[in-house]
Amino acid sequence: MKIIFTSLAAVVLFLCTTKGLGQQNAVSQATEKKWWKEAVVYQIYPRSFKDSDGDGIGDLKGIISKLDYIKKLGIDVVWLNPIYSSPNDDNGYDVSDYRNIMKDFGTMSDFDSLIAEMHKRGIRLVMDLVVNHSSDEHEWFKQSRSSRTNPYRDYYHWWNAERGNPSPRYSLFDINHDAWRYDSLTNSYYLHYFSRKQPDLNWENPKLRQEVYDIMKFWADKGIDGFRLDAFGFAAKDTSFPVFPIRNEKNFMLYYAMGPHLHEYLREMNDQVFSKYDVMSVAEGAGNTFDDAHNLVDADRRELNMAYAFEGIDIAKPEGYSLLHFKEVFSRWDSAFEHKGWLSIVLSNHDQARMVSRFGNDRPQYRALSSKMLSTFLMTMRGTPYYYNGDELGMTNSAFRNIHDFRDVSALNEYQHLINIHGDTSTYLKRLKFEGRDNGRTPFQWDTSANAGFTTGTPWIAVNPNYKTINAKLVKLRKNNPALVYGSYHLLDKNNPTVYAYTREDNGMKFLILLNFSPDKVQTNIGISLTGAKLLLSNDQRAQGSPVTVLNPYEACIYQLQ
Ligand code: GLC
Repeated sequence: MKIIFTSLAAVVLFLCTTKGLGQQNAVSQATEKKWWKEAVVYQIYPRSFKDSDGDGIGDLKGIISKLDYIKKLGIDVVWLNPIYSSPNDDNGYDVSDYRNIMKDFGTMSDFDSLIAEMHKRGIRLVMDLVVNHSSDEHEWFKQSRSSRTNPYRDYYHWWNAERGNPSPRYSLFDINHDAWRYDSLTNSYYLHYFSRKQPDLNWENPKLRQEVYDIMKFWADKGIDGFRLDAFGFAAKDTSFPVFPIRNEKNFMLYYAMGPHLHEYLREMNDQVFSKYDVMSVAEGAGNTFDDAHNLVDADRRELNMAYAFEGIDIAKPEGYSLLHFKEVFSRWDSAFEHKGWLSIVLSNHDQARMVSRFGNDRPQYRALSSKMLSTFLMTMRGTPYYYNGDELGMTNSAFRNIHDFRDVSALNEYQHLINIHGDTSTYLKRLKFEGRDNGRTPFQWDTSANAGFTTGTPWIAVNPNYKTINAKLVKLRKNNPALVYGSYHLLDKNNPTVYAYTREDNGMKFLILLNFSPDKVQTNIGISLTGAKLLLSNDQRAQGSPVTVLNPYEACIYQLQ
């Protein structure tokens, strides 16, 4: 059976295969079978997904109203960005109450309905766990800053001013890049790797760790199916706080990630929480080396399930990227995890610009095609694919004109920083337009009505003006095929600068995936026998029997080989 994508705007997950294909040819692989390896994760940015009450902000009831849509995409796991109480300095990544729902998003009873409605449809829920830091408006922090002897003092990192100035530490979101904030109330500095309103929690304090495990159990007891550990690589710290070497800001991971006791804490978390529930766990990031990544996720270590590496996403730069580099990175990660551990396959998320604008081509004639081509990539690599909401429509970067169009605390503070030091704001603005996080946060474009059907009110951030040409009319189902989940990966035509070609194979089942990453008609030289190759899927009008080795612009196709 050949599937052609005819939808106007694209397709999410389009790995359709012939009926029963997977079942009849049970895949045998050393890798242990797990539901979270076979899942396709759909990430929802709740603030921008669907507003049910006209306040311009997406909410839980809005998500509930779209669960059938999500189900139709073939999705089995939803990862929800933080929905806990928060003053929203960093859109919910500054939690003021871990056991409550943000007012903008609804109530706990809306949450209970959400999870019940998801489970009814066979969709699992993964929640963001933001515990490298809390909000400065969390009760713990209010107590902690109130006096040096308060029982919550050691829930955060403090540096008493009489010791002199603390050694410089870099803050990713601070206007002065300074991670120490002076607090006159107790004549001390507190540490914040992100904004001033996101003080870092003290993981070296066993009481704090226990609080976090209790919070995790609270949500696991409510029935959630997993946790995404936000910025967790930074949680464990060298509390002597050595100097952060200046001009190394871009390499902050080398100084902040994988602190001294991180693995112990993860093992403890696993013993106390993960091992007691059927939940998945994914880290944000994967450390600095393959060894780090393996130490985080190899099953025999009992820490986390899956790494979420950024090397692939980071390839895309405003000036473009090289497909040879892209192939090299993804192939290297695949081979490093061939026998042990498990990876996420990702090209976009809420901290990134839009997938099609960075990795594909967002000009009108190529937007849909190249989105589908990239989707084919995500859906055919070994690892769990993460699909960011709106990418299935080929949603593009927005048309931000000036800094006032942005809402992201990191963008606004960095801009202010540059003004303060008389830096180059116009180059920064250019960069933001291409890679700013708000590109991925504009309202979901449901249809061609006002505000793209996202809200009847005024959206919290402007809808992308191109919404009239992008809407979800038709989405193809994707069905898992075990060979595409667990099967071995083999790169073909390695040095081809425009074609990404590979096979996935297991237990006698072999698929060939051909992806043209360019707007040109191109030739590929795959060097394997194509006798009897059967076209299963194409994002173009490709007919069965047309030459396999010639690809149209941004064409993606999947063949089953004999
Ligand atoms: C993670 C989140 C990001 C947030 C940051 C601080 O990187 O993905 O959105 O701003 O942590 O919590």
